[in-house]
Amino acid sequence: MSTDTPEQLEGMKAAGRVVAQTIRELRKLVRPGVTTLELDQAAGRVFAAHGAQSGPQLDYNFPGVICISVNDEAVHGIPSGRRLRDGDLVKLDVTAELNGFYADACRTVAVGKVKPSAVKLIGAAESGLKRGLAVATAGATVNDIGVAVQHEIEKRGFSVCATLTGHGIGRRIHEEPTVFSVGMPGPSPTLTEGLVITIEPIIAAGEGDVVEDGEWIVRTADGSLSAHAEHTIVITDGAPLVLTA
Ligand code: MF3
Ligand code: CO
Ligand code: CO
Repeated sequence: MSTDTPEQLEGMKAAGRVVAQTIRELRKLVRPGVTTLELDQAAGRVFAAHGAQSGPQLDYNFPGVICISVNDEAVHGIPSGRRLRDGDLVKLDVTAELNGFYADACRTVAVGKVKPSAVKLIGAAESGLKRGLAVATAGATVNDIGVAVQHEIEKRGFSVCATLTGHGIGRRIHEEPTVFSVGMPGPSPTLTEGLVITIEPIIAAGEGDVVEDGEWIVRTADGSLSAHAEHTIVITDGAPLVLTA
């Protein structure tokens, strides 16, 4: 959506705050032995306390409050009785709906002590997001974001899972435009003031190819570790307004 009125902007800010707070709470609970279902239930409590609802449930009938993906699961992991183990990477992808407005963010969290290469992978996803934010200004194109993100990830020796993308957001989770994390050929929409999008590099330690595993889960095809960093932002004539920080 484009936030064209103060009410719309306030609505999006409020949804963004719920998402940010949910991720903050969940980070504290991540440790070896906790189940992904316990994390999902904690997310549900934060949502309920704010009168928010699960975006994935509302829009897609997703079987969880949030998406929780572990290790080679790239996206759309389903909360379950799986216990996190020392050395795992867990991706907390949180989409809240509040008063008809949606915001979406993801952080990758290390469980206990992880390998140095896994720490680097998390850092690369965060850094790719940061590079994308730095070029996301009115007048630039959506493709400028993909070019910047891809360059940063590959400079660090990792791959972008190119088929997994960011998106417009606001009244639904997934709106126009599609925000690739790689440069794409052909014309690309211009970013305009007020436009709300996500930037969300989903990257792999190995190849960026992914495969579906059942109705929801998407994994890296080569089984390599994946990391994901996402924010929901509003485009301005300067630096973007990060709603989920
Ligand atoms: N949070 C996901 C994204 O960043 C959307 C998940 S909706 C689901 O695009 F239903 F597919 F899980
Ligand atoms: Co998300
Ligand atoms: Co998203």
